[in-house]
Amino acid sequence: MTAEETLAQLAKEVSVCTKCALHESRKKSVPGDGPADAEIMFIGEGPGFHENEQGHPFVGASGKFLDQLLAQAGVTRADVFIANVVKCRPPDNRDPSTDELAACDTYLEAQIKTINPSIIVTLGRISMGKFFSGVKISAVHGQMQKVGERYVIPMFHPAAALHQSALKPAILADFAKLPELLNEARVALGKPAIEKKKETVPVNDGKPKQLSLF
Ligand code: URA
Ligand code: SF4
Repeated sequence: MTAEETLAQLAKEVSVCTKCALHESRKKSVPGDGPADAEIMFIGEGPGFHENEQGHPFVGASGKFLDQLLAQAGVTRADVFIANVVKCRPPDNRDPSTDELAACDTYLEAQIKTINPSIIVTLGRISMGKFFSGVKISAVHGQMQKVGERYVIPMFHPAAALHQSALKPAILADFAKLPELLNEARVALGKPAIEKKKETVPVNDGKPKQLSLF
């Protein structure tokens, strides 16, 4: 099976999965979107209202903000894979339980293994908890650490930054560092650094400067 076929197969399994109670109230499962060879993988928490309706990750208000953050890093959705730690919506957007996280982790692990990204960006404290325990997101956000065969960078959840404006400069700065961190990770993993293809010099239009690596 190609990586694309493996991801499609996983999405199919997720759509009929009954391994945890979250399947009872799901409308659409949200396996995740993106290319099978993505160099950067984002892991959020779980589908919200709009994601449950549409079957795609980050399509609501936090998704709009995520798109701006991706632009800050010079990437688009087509460049990255976006998944969540649970693939079905927790009722009322409550935190997923330990049991639900454990049940869904096999899918996430299979996705990570298939995509084999150089970098994983965790969004929010729940997905950070998959890789790091006993740390505070406010202390470690934006700091890249090697976990197994790849690098993980915890970041604030876009929804948290939307609701707490004090977090906004930090999340913007962390995303802006992504191209540099990706190259750092690639070199450390023995892969060639990505050459800059395009640099848009800011004209005075108030938009963030974009350095695209893809
Ligand atoms: N929040 C998340 O963590 N994931 C989504 O897919 C949407 C909102
Ligand atoms: Fe299965 Fe994950 Fe959905 Fe639970 S959240 S039913 S484990 S796909």
